Amino acid sequence: MQTRAGEQLEVLIQAQDIRLRVEQLGARITYDYQDKDLILIGILKGSFVFVADLARAIDLPLAIDFMAVSSYGMSTQSSGVVRIIKDLDHSVEQKHVLVVEDIVDTGLTLNYIYGHVKSRGAASVKICALLDKASRRQVAVPVHYKGFEIPDEFVVGYGLDVEERYRNLADICRVVHTS
Ligand code: IMP
Repeated sequence: MQTRAGEQLEVLIQAQDIRLRVEQLGARITYDYQDKDLILIGILKGSFVFVADLARAIDLPLAIDFMAVSSYGMSTQSSGVVRIIKDLDHSVEQKHVLVVEDIVDTGLTLNYIYGHVKSRGAASVKICALLDKASRRQVAVPVHYKGFEIPDEFVVGYGLDVEERYRNLADICRVVHTS
């Protein structure tokens, strides 16, 4: 893909490996949620590609909802203060919720969302994250389904962005600054 001036992309996880892993996660979730009323809650914007693929890898009559949150500020570091920009459209009462997130970094965002969804009376709440930067964790969050553990590097693609760019990359890439 063409890049912005002064930036190069290096592939960290290829699209075909992502596809395989998503299929595996989908099969596992299908097995675990047999006969349960499952709702996927995607965290916008970063999870939109993952949710689309994961939902189709799960062979259950699930529902899908989205929340949009933002950390205060425009930095690449999470502040831990989370603002809800879009709340859930539907009640999660008595439903089995699977929160679908692109990446867990410090854990501050998911920690907030986990508490928020739990307080809404769900029958159960679990977390599925495609990427996990475990070495960066500041608060413990239970990641029940995990795609890949990655090193402490800023990555883009497959829904993830830097300043809203590169969400449309098929691979997950690290951004290398050349100037
Ligand atoms: P946390 O609250 O520190 O766990 O941050 C989670 C959020 O930070 C994710 O949902 C992403 O929006 C963003 N984020 C963290 N690391 C990256 C990265 O490497 N690339 C793109 N976004 C990231």
